[in-house]
Formats: sequence, C-alpha cells, structure tokens
Amino acid sequence: MMPSAAVTPESLVGVTGEPLIRLQGVSGGYNGKAVLHEVSLAVRRGELVGIVGQNGAGKSTLLKILLGLLTPMSGTMEMFGRRIRDAGDRAWMQKRIGYLAQIQEPPAIPVTVADTVLLGRWGRSFAGLRRPGAADREVVRRHLELTGIAELAKRDLRSLSGGQRQRAALARALAREPELLLMDEPTTYLDKHARNDLMRRILDIHSESGITMLLVTHVELPGREFDRVLHLDEGLLDRADRTDRTDRTASDEGGAP
Ligand SMILES: Nc1ncnc2c1ncn2[C@@H]1O[C@H](COP(=O)(O)OP(=O)(O)OP(=O)(O)O)[C@@H](O)[C@H]1O
Ligand SMILES: [Mg+2]
Repeated sequence: MMPSAAVTPESLVGVTGEPLIRLQGVSGGYNGKAVLHEVSLAVRRGELVGIVGQNGAGKSTLLKILLGLLTPMSGTMEMFGRRIRDAGDRAWMQKRIGYLAQIQEPPAIPVTVADTVLLGRWGRSFAGLRRPGAADREVVRRHLELTGIAELAKRDLRSLSGGQRQRAALARALAREPELLLMDEPTTYLDKHARNDLMRRILDIHSESGITMLLVTHVELPGREFDRVLHLDEGLLDRADRTDRTDRTASDEGGAP
C-alpha cells in the first residue's frame, strides 16, 4: 500500500463540524452510463444518516463512490475535508472508512471469527510485512464484545447464523476504528428478531462512539432514531422524512442541499 500523506486524525481536529462527506453534483455509473445523477450530499461528523431506495436505485453505487472503488463521472467529492481526486487521495481516505458490504461471501477456507475481525485492520495498522500486534488483538477483543459475539471468537465463520455473521461483519468494520462507517443493507436479509437486534446494536454503538455512520437499505428504517433519512430514487437523492432531533448538537446543521 502507498504511504499516505502525513495527515493524522489529530490534524483533522480543525474540521470538526465540517462535513465528513461532501458530494456536489456527483454522477456515477458503469461503462459510461450514469446510474447516479448529480447527487449532492453532506454528512457531518457524528451524524447517523439513512438512505432508503428501491432495488437498483443506486445505493451500492453511491457507497462504492464514497469508498473510492468507483470514480465519479462528474462532480466534486470531498472526504474528511480533503478533495478526492486521485489514487493517493483515495488510499488516504480509505484508512478512515469502515465498510459493511451488502453480501458477505462465505470464505472458502476455515477462518475463525476473531481472525475475520482482525482482517478489518488490514491496511490500517498492519499490512505486508507489518504483522498484527497485541494492540490489534485487544481492538478485536473489544469489538467482539461490543457486538455481542465474544463467545464465538474461536468458531469457524462459516458455522455462524446469518445474524451472527452480520455481527461479525460489523465487528470487522468497527475494528478498523474508522471515522466513518458505511453500511450496505446490514439488516435486510435477517429475520425480524435478528434485524431488530442488529439495528439496536448499530444505534447504541453510534450513540456511544459518535462514529459518523451512513446506512443504505431498501427496507424501512426506524427513522426517528436517525438524524436524517434520505431517499434515493432512480439515482436522484432527495430528503425524506426529516426527523427533528434536538438532542444531538453535532448534527443539527447537517442537511442535504
Ligand atoms: N458492475 C456493474 N456494471 C454495470 N451495471 C451495474 C454494476 N453494478 C450495478 N449496476 C447497475 O447500476 C444500477 C444500480 O445498482 P446498485 O447496485 O447501485 O443498486 P442498489 O440500490 O444497491 O440495489 P439493491 O437494493 O438491489 O442492492 C442497477 O441498474 C445495476 O444493474
Ligand atoms: Mg445494493
């Protein structure tokens, strides 16, 4: 991995209150065909934002752009106060982002739950010849605990239930100790009980950690619990039922244009 520019989390203190995500007029898609049309979005530090949209609306595409896996066809993108233009910028921002993918591919070989969570730190605190250390193991332990799967640490990931596997995926994303957590349909494919349980955990972790979170889904969200819920329809982003929460100071100003 490329060495990143000398910007530490400490040097980002000055951008507190500034948007962590700022997209302006961003279009994006595949093979020259846009599926997102001039999306503008600002998410401030500490916010919990939901985006709801039907199958094919472009939710995963939006997350791929935010993750730097897909380059916008037009528009401007700023993440953590820095304009994202090239591979160096993308590598820089990827260190700060945790990601829970829509589909968790079961691994082909046996891997313990603890090791899969440890992998969340790949590229953050260890990579290549730099091996994980005691501090990494401690971060893993803490996040297994936080997501309620400490007792599953030594189990083979493939033997877990769907809900347990999603919790492991959440633990892995959080083990990165990200400033921003992107979640793609984290609860969609779970039964009602597991869905409610995971949503509760996400909400609790948000209010305890203050990590900025963006969650996309095509199923209903507990809107009152979110700072904002936006609607994505055929690649166009709109404000949905804005919830007026006054008990969060960091997020009051957040608003999509
Ligand atoms: N790699 C790709 N190549 C070409 N087209 C793609 C690719 N990935 C997605 N698309 C198309 O882009 C559009 C948006 O897809 P996307 O996966 O972003 O939707 P989504 O809102 O996440 O849907 P879902 O709710 O099913 O997850 C769809 O029409 C899809 O077919
Ligand atoms: Mg999707």
